[in-house]
Amino acid sequence: MSTFDIPFALSRTRVAVRPGALQELGPALAELARPTKVLLVSDETVAGLFAEATLESLRGAGLEVAALVLPPGDATKSLASADRIYDRLGEMRLARDGALVALGGGMVSDLTGFAAATWMRGVAFAICPTTVEADVDAAIGGKTAVNHLAGKNLVGAFHQPVLVQIDPECLRTLPLRDRVAGLAESIKHAVITDEPFLSWHEAQRERVLAQDSGVLTELVERNVRIKADVVSRDEQERTALRASLNFGHTVGHAIESAQGYALRHGECVALGMVAECRIAVAMGLLSAADADRVVQCIGAYGLPVRLDTPLNEDELLGYMLRDKKVAGGKVRFTLPNGLGATVLRDDVPDAVVRTACHGVAL
Ligand SMILES: NC(=O)c1ccc[n+]([C@@H]2O[C@H](COP(=O)([O-])OP(=O)(O)OC[C@H]3O[C@@H](n4cnc5c(N)ncnc54)[C@H](O)[C@@H]3O)[C@@H](O)[C@H]2O)c1
Ligand SMILES: [Zn+2]
Repeated sequence: MSTFDIPFALSRTRVAVRPGALQELGPALAELARPTKVLLVSDETVAGLFAEATLESLRGAGLEVAALVLPPGDATKSLASADRIYDRLGEMRLARDGALVALGGGMVSDLTGFAAATWMRGVAFAICPTTVEADVDAAIGGKTAVNHLAGKNLVGAFHQPVLVQIDPECLRTLPLRDRVAGLAESIKHAVITDEPFLSWHEAQRERVLAQDSGVLTELVERNVRIKADVVSRDEQERTALRASLNFGHTVGHAIESAQGYALRHGECVALGMVAECRIAVAMGLLSAADADRVVQCIGAYGLPVRLDTPLNEDELLGYMLRDKKVAGGKVRFTLPNGLGATVLRDDVPDAVVRTACHGVAL
């Protein structure tokens, strides 16, 4: 049940995590940004569930508000959609003193944040996240982006939201598979920074999966605080600190690309964490018992620890070399250095990577 601020160099983000937070959006935004006009952006699925309550809250706070509803799916995270947002902002004559509100998952918040970062060189925006992925990851940290044919998230900007209003009750309408996929990022946060939080995941598994309101709220808040702590100390990913959040993502993104985005992002991160734990063991950074514990926890949440299809290791290595995380032609891995800490390594032998990837596929 809390509200707190994340400090950045030039701004701060107010975060509220509590059941009912969606209804409090209007007053919170009015108090923080006093926007003259507001554009709410959402996707069709989320808008059908929550747009009415959100608009009511904004209007109730005396704000002049319009809505733009776009198709769901990552294909909408494009420059063409950003252009549709600009068209609407132009019609509304929304100026520097206006604000955008993103209502939805990471697709909507990345796109809306990108539009907010670029419209008139930057206007305020708020996020009401509605997926686990967005609650625990995408809504915090100010990375905004749209996809390009050349790759995902290649066109973007750092732009911090003024407000992130998280109502964990919104997660109840999510399909189970999506809810579970998002939990991969929560386990990731535990492994990289907070071993007791890994124990918490082990102990609270049933209550998390049963969507116990108090437990979900605690899960979201702990994740937000972990990510906030990392990103506020490395706002623009200039050091290894923010890169620690990439644990599971070097192999995970490669699997995601190789599978043609047939799997959920979180499922690929789960497989990536399994492979990268094995790499950490091979590099002498993590005990086999600790690696097994992480794999066990991932599996206990219903996330995949092994694919039932083969993976082509050459293809995966090719994707890793094309990843944004490559520096000087070397693939960089964020590996667990014991549980609760990480180290950035670019000296993992190809053979070790191949064996680890082989281990998560048929
Ligand atoms: N900016 C960052 O730091 C960051 C971090 C992680 C992920 N991301 C981005 O986030 C996106 C993935 O986020 P996502 O998993 O939230 O995907 P998403 O926004 O596409 O949402 C997934 C699906 O769930 C539906 N949905 C959303 N909320 C719902 C609800 N409460 N009930 C029922 N259905 C609901 C959506 O309509 C959509 O079909 C990717 O584009 C990724 O690049 C960004
Ligand atoms: Zn991720």
